[in-house]
Amino acid sequence: MAVEPVVYGASERPPRGDYARASDDYTCAQNWAAYTEADHDTYRRLYARQSALLPGLACEAFINALPSLGASDQIPRFEDINARLKPATGWELVAVPGLIPERPFFQLLADRRFPVTDWIRQPEEFDYIVEPDVFHDLFGHVPLLFNPVFADYVQRYGAGGLKAHDLGAGELLSRLYWYTIEFGLIQQADGLRAYGAGILSSSGELRHSVTSPQPQRLALDLLRCMRTRYKIDDYQATYFVIDSFDQLFELTAPDFAPLYEAVAAQGELAPDASSASDSRITLG
Ligand code: PHE
Ligand code: CO
Repeated sequence: MAVEPVVYGASERPPRGDYARASDDYTCAQNWAAYTEADHDTYRRLYARQSALLPGLACEAFINALPSLGASDQIPRFEDINARLKPATGWELVAVPGLIPERPFFQLLADRRFPVTDWIRQPEEFDYIVEPDVFHDLFGHVPLLFNPVFADYVQRYGAGGLKAHDLGAGELLSRLYWYTIEFGLIQQADGLRAYGAGILSSSGELRHSVTSPQPQRLALDLLRCMRTRYKIDDYQATYFVIDSFDQLFELTAPDFAPLYEAVAAQGELAPDASSASDSRITLG
């Protein structure tokens, strides 16, 4: 059965992927044979540029796990990564034609199946792309799925998402995804580092998020985080910082139902809002 395409945010642009290929759960086969030499070359050049930027900016768990993606000179076959990922943490990559709706997205994560867009950006989008492509999804997200604690967090996030969806709070919970899995920072013993995929796959935002005095960095507070709107087409104005993946896992263990009510009662905040009660982290 054909499924509906999804467009990011309030974009006027047509959806990128071919959703006729997808089954009811939005997954499809990775059309590996369809990649051109130019596609593989784009991946190779993105990987080379980005991996050179990681030292001192990306968290240790990410740097250590990156080689698990396999060869960097062509777009990997998801099944080859799965042969290493499944035994490591029980996660499996599944191909999708692009962004998918909230409920099927949460369902895949709850089942430890990580959706990976299978197409790659055009050469003119080399420096910046708004929608996730195969480079963002693989390079940004997959290395930390090899980390047992982080892998469990993403699965529990998916299960929590199904619950939030039923409570009408899916959008609030998606802010937690954004500010942790996509744009999270972590305080490592040797300094602040990035662990969010949106940062780790971005050539400009990686250094900006970790070193620029411009954005504000707040210790992760669930209520503050879920009240804060985010930008989908510019560097974040606010980053939330964790101490460890264990802390993230424990912080998110309680029932969120009362939290959703508190967020609704207190109202949303602009991406760059600041308040005296914020727990700010300053650059050392
Ligand atoms: N504890 C959350 C709830 O009860 C579920 C959740 C776990 C959400 C981890 C996000 C991350 O809804
Ligand atoms: Co992403």
